[in-house]
Amino acid sequence: MTVFIPEDKVAEIKHTADIVDIVSEVVLLKKTGKNHLGLCPFHTEKTPSFTVSPDKQIFHCFGCGEGGNVFSFLMKHNGVSFPEAVQMIARRYGIDIPTQSMSIEQKKRFGERERIFSVNKAAMTFFYNNLMNVTAGQKAVNYLQKRGITKEIIEQFRLGYAPGTWDSLLKMLQKKGISHSLAHKTGIIVPRGNGNGYYDRFRDRIIFPIFDRGMQVIGFGGRVMDDSLPKYLNSPETPVYNKSKSLYGLHHAKKECRKTGAVFIVEGYFDLISLVQHGLGNAVATLGTALTSEHVQIIRGLIGKSGKVILVYDSDEAGIKAARRSIEVFEKSFVDAGILVLPTGHDPDSYLFEFGVESFQKAAAGSLGIISFLIESAVKKYGLSIEGKIQTISDLQGPLSAITNSVARSLYIKELAEKTGIDEAAILEKIRTTSVKTAHSGNKWPGHAIDTMVAGHDKTSQDKWKRIEEQIIAMMLQSPGIIPEIRNKKVLDNFESNTLKQIGHLIIEHKDFHVNGDVSNLMACLNDNTQRRIIASLAIGEDIWNDNGCRKLIAQFLNSRNNRKKTLLKEIKAAEDRNDHELLLKLLKEKQILVSRKGISILEFAGGKTL
Ligand code: UTP
Ligand code: MN
Repeated sequence: MTVFIPEDKVAEIKHTADIVDIVSEVVLLKKTGKNHLGLCPFHTEKTPSFTVSPDKQIFHCFGCGEGGNVFSFLMKHNGVSFPEAVQMIARRYGIDIPTQSMSIEQKKRFGERERIFSVNKAAMTFFYNNLMNVTAGQKAVNYLQKRGITKEIIEQFRLGYAPGTWDSLLKMLQKKGISHSLAHKTGIIVPRGNGNGYYDRFRDRIIFPIFDRGMQVIGFGGRVMDDSLPKYLNSPETPVYNKSKSLYGLHHAKKECRKTGAVFIVEGYFDLISLVQHGLGNAVATLGTALTSEHVQIIRGLIGKSGKVILVYDSDEAGIKAARRSIEVFEKSFVDAGILVLPTGHDPDSYLFEFGVESFQKAAAGSLGIISFLIESAVKKYGLSIEGKIQTISDLQGPLSAITNSVARSLYIKELAEKTGIDEAAILEKIRTTSVKTAHSGNKWPGHAIDTMVAGHDKTSQDKWKRIEEQIIAMMLQSPGIIPEIRNKKVLDNFESNTLKQIGHLIIEHKDFHVNGDVSNLMACLNDNTQRRIIASLAIGEDIWNDNGCRKLIAQFLNSRNNRKKTLLKEIKAAEDRNDHELLLKLLKEKQILVSRKGISILEFAGGKTL
């Protein structure tokens, strides 16, 4: 795994990185005692159970069981490989990674995303320089000026201009020695129809580079400067650009979102930069797609659990469509969302320039929740005649039945009843006839569930042993001084859970850990996700282990195991006497687990009896 990056570099990077910093980029964390707590980015939850330990430099979610160190966090969160995660952190802290030692093949694998980023960056600079060029960029600068865009915004968002020719970018890339196939992967050049060469995707357009959170250029949008079509061209999906996970303006919005606990979601590039220019930095734009649950997940990381999303739309119709589509997305993420529909003919950009930011904020303050907005719009549209009311109820039937939170649903039903003057019970009846939603599936405790215990004996006794075994591993992780004793007394040999036993051996073998107690480092040596999660979950606790407590636990465990062996023998005997084959089989299986390491065959205990 670490072959691409020298070990000592990885160690340096790991020591420089602070997991609280890195996680804070995407999760709003609150300090609680020694640890920091926030909403888990890996599953949907209402109450924070995602815990980050600055002391141990690890994280663990008590809800979904995910856990690990700073590298595993980035790998999981960004869907990247280990070297990429290392690279991301290195970049963030300005650490250079020497790549000379890599073979060509290694460089290739390591660098695809990096190389796409760097080509995108070169293209961005090219577009920007064109805009800044007095002759080439004049038309574009005029256009931006006409739209009220300031120099600061051009700088901040690195706006650019793609010249009208078919190959200016292509030529620049060629000069830089960038291959066509790589440039093609970024989507900035397009193969010619005749299969002969490539041409520039963006021509004679204003360019909006799209950044990810870490300020890497992931793609571009390009707008014409007249009425020709298509109005916008966008980068295609690439290994670094996925529309349903990307938001325009995100790199800029982070800080302001944290501060205000709210975010405006708009639809267009110009809308977004207008908001920013008017001092509303807490805004992002979707990139020509509907709002996805991935978007909401990202946003939730920025504004936290009690944050508010305000969707801004330029017409009732667009608002209603978006509202209906996003109910489930928001409900699942427990994010409070409101809808702000601007007066006919205005989008956020034109509204702000015409009426100013105060008026915009006032309108936003009055924005309705999604369902209330739908109720209001339907009443407005259909009126309060009998037919109108029937139509309203029928319109709301779908959205209301999509709400799985029964309290919220009944409150909305009440609201609808009040607005229409129709009996709540009648509305409820109508909703009931709509599709029955499948129940929420609860959060599973991963890892432990796939433990490889031999099945067959009592579930509760399994649980009991597992709890003690977990305690022992937790003790080893939190109080490494006890490890020699665990090894000498062969405590692990008595473990029932194979997973926990393996983890125990791993800790014993990892000598560095006995000295430095660095759990995060221990994790770096693991390839197994389940093991990593379990270690995180057991290490993150803040139990106080004193020598006495440790020894007592070990003694207790070994005693109980021995006692169980003895009682088992008796029970087996009794079961044999009673000819209770079913029980006998069960007990023998348990016996087998208890003694398997000592090589005593199952038959010895069954007294040679055929089962
Ligand atoms: P709009 O048509 O509302 O344009 O598209 P706009 O953002 O207000 O732009 P101006 O003010 O006319 O310059 C909203 C968004 O939809 C996507 C773009 O992301 C755009 O910002 N879109 C629109 C496209 O991707 N392609 C198009 O052809 C049109
Ligand atoms: Mn517009």
